[in-house]
Amino acid sequence: MKFAFIIDPIERLDPGHDSSVALMEAAQALGHEVWITQANLLSVVDGKAWAVLEPVQLTPVQLVNGLWVAEPVWFAVGDRTLSRLESMDAVFMRTDPPVTVPYLYATYILDYIDAAETLVINSPKGLRAANEKMYALQFTEAIPETIVSADKGVIREFLEAKGTAVLKPLGGKAGEGILFLDASDRNFNSLIELSTLQGRVPVMVQTYLPAAKDGDKRIILLNGEPIGALNRIPTGKEFRGNMAVGGRVAETEITEREREICTQLAPTLQRDGLIFVGIDVIGGYLTEVNVTSPTGIREADRLNGTRLGHQVIEWVEKFKSANLA
Ligand SMILES: Nc1ncnc2c1ncn2[C@@H]1O[C@H](COP(=O)(O)OP(=O)(O)O)[C@@H](O)[C@H]1O
Ligand SMILES: [Mg+2]
Repeated sequence: MKFAFIIDPIERLDPGHDSSVALMEAAQALGHEVWITQANLLSVVDGKAWAVLEPVQLTPVQLVNGLWVAEPVWFAVGDRTLSRLESMDAVFMRTDPPVTVPYLYATYILDYIDAAETLVINSPKGLRAANEKMYALQFTEAIPETIVSADKGVIREFLEAKGTAVLKPLGGKAGEGILFLDASDRNFNSLIELSTLQGRVPVMVQTYLPAAKDGDKRIILLNGEPIGALNRIPTGKEFRGNMAVGGRVAETEITEREREICTQLAPTLQRDGLIFVGIDVIGGYLTEVNVTSPTGIREADRLNGTRLGHQVIEWVEKFKSANLA
């Protein structure tokens, strides 16, 4: 089969950390062709989606003393060609967030791929439906108390009722712009003005979960089923657990409550074509549903001895053969 991956420039990827590389390696190891492109290299011509594609050959990372080690030159790309994306069996949309206007336009281009020909993961419609912060709000039993507002009065009232809270920009990732709010903070007004761009942009404000100090669990879902997990524990003086801000990665189990959360999400994720997803869970509460370019495969694999990339590609193989039959 032929797999295309829409990624950021490949030289910027970190082969020992990025799930996109794990997925590409798995596709190659399972005997498939791996092609790469970028969101800005997509076009619609004659009503069909096209891309400037390059074939890529990867030298897989190796596990050395519990860490992934890559060769200094870990990929080799071949000649570029302009091809219809329907010539691929599957297309993985893996551009890193934030979701910008060019990102959204790329999803509109991906709408011009016939689903009967090519599976797009995640579905462009699902990517538009699911803001990574706000998508969680519909699972009312799974989430901590949360509001979304640009209004200082509304935010202040919520914060005073809770005492402490966490503020999140709706388009953020990797801990960017996440603030700890305290009702007695003399910077409150300024913090809200800065993060809402003077009351123009809504933000999420969520009750502070003390369990966050024990970790922010990433659970990886494949078609709604949990296939792996890892914990990210805040270190030092940092309250955020994200790997990008130094969170320590640790082995973990998926609890009964977390399995229930996955069961609650599964039908909605499936309806929206959100096949490869990473949810964040703190103290048994769902805090985020990552759909754009969720990460965690490398960490889960090295902690648990799994091969989640293989599982994802094998799922695509089965899906394709079932849909051809
Ligand atoms: N409700 C919460 N209570 C305590 N800490 C939180 C809460 N929500 C998020 N955090 C902390 O902030 C970090 C980032 O939050 P998250 O919602 O996953 O946004 P993103 O990962 O997109 O930046 C988490 O790793 C966690 O440490
Ligand atoms: Mg997160």
